Amino acid sequence: VRKMLHTLSVPIIQAPMAGGVSTPALAAAVSNAGGLGFLAGGYKTAEEMRKEIAAVRELTDKPFGINVFVPGEEDVDEKALLRYRQVLEKEAERFGVPLGEAKWDDDDWEAKLTVLYEEKVPVVSFTFGCPSSDIIAKLKDIGSFVIVTVTSPEEALIAAQAGADALCVQGPEAGGHRASFRNTDAVYESVSLLVLLQQIREVVDIPLIATGGIMHERDIAAVLAAGACAAQLGTAFLRCPESGANLLHKNALVDPQFQTTAVTRAFTGRPARGLVNRFLIEYDNLAPAAYPHIHHMTKHLRKAAAQANDPQMMSLWAGQGYRLAKDMPAGEIVRRLGEKVKEVIGEMMGCCDE
Ligand SMILES: Cc1cc2nc3c(=O)[nH]c(=O)nc-3n(C[C@H](O)[C@H](O)[C@H](O)COP(=O)(O)O)c2cc1C
Repeated sequence: VRKMLHTLSVPIIQAPMAGGVSTPALAAAVSNAGGLGFLAGGYKTAEEMRKEIAAVRELTDKPFGINVFVPGEEDVDEKALLRYRQVLEKEAERFGVPLGEAKWDDDDWEAKLTVLYEEKVPVVSFTFGCPSSDIIAKLKDIGSFVIVTVTSPEEALIAAQAGADALCVQGPEAGGHRASFRNTDAVYESVSLLVLLQQIREVVDIPLIATGGIMHERDIAAVLAAGACAAQLGTAFLRCPESGANLLHKNALVDPQFQTTAVTRAFTGRPARGLVNRFLIEYDNLAPAAYPHIHHMTKHLRKAAAQANDPQMMSLWAGQGYRLAKDMPAGEIVRRLGEKVKEVIGEMMGCCDE
């Protein structure tokens, strides 16, 4: 089991990033450079996901991963959702688009599981929950390495007991959605990645992958020293030419008008970290916990904003380290970070010798 992660010549995993960011070209470039590239199955149909798997296989014969969202709670506060809808109507009018239907869905869960069973992808990771032990066992039987993303020791225990091969430990520094099993406010009190890694290590002894705010070779060395077997980087790859992030999103990461990041439910109804823009400031405290309802409700708005070149209304997901994101081919990022991590670790060993 541990072998899967140890076959990587560089302990770097490119985070799955839904919404068109994780392209087959990005995943393949990272895997070809010795890291582990990831596709994002979220928000796609099962058949679109199957096509992307085939596309990566055309570009690399190295292992790669695919991430799937576990369906969550259907029940939401309908009144709060309606109030939020009424508030957003003025934005919809301004952009001349309708608000989407605020509906629950399971993101094509069963059909995606079927694709995973048929395609036998080397690594499968889950976010927003833990699949049943039967599902995990079936994936392991066909040879997939199964990772569950966790944000607390409680979730870590559940995932380990369900049979996960490894856990992706997501710290609150992370860009994009908080991976927590439930749509709670826990993120607002959660501890930093380095603290979380030790809290989780106390309760489980399977391999841990660290993610959240990791941008630099010294960050990678830090999480390896903290006991992780690999570092998963998302924001660090956002500006790569292979990344499918919208150009406005790429540019916002280096635009001084965006001063910081924050966690908000304003865009999707689930806590997610992004650059602080007008939409986030105006609506953060009005958005109820309702995912994916609010994702569907705001999607036309966000698309219209992108078409109108207005980054102030887009979800500009970014981790706390976003200022260090580089416009550089993904393979080069992996190779450079890989070499420099070795140097840093060598330096650390040297310190101990003296
Ligand atoms: C644009 C974007 C999209 C993301 N989409 C997903 C996703 O589909 N599935 C997932 O498990 N995590 C997703 N994440 C979270 C990453 O897996 C990872 O936890 C995060 O990027 C780590 O923090 P960093 O961005 O500071 O490196 C996304 C992150 C970003 C920035």
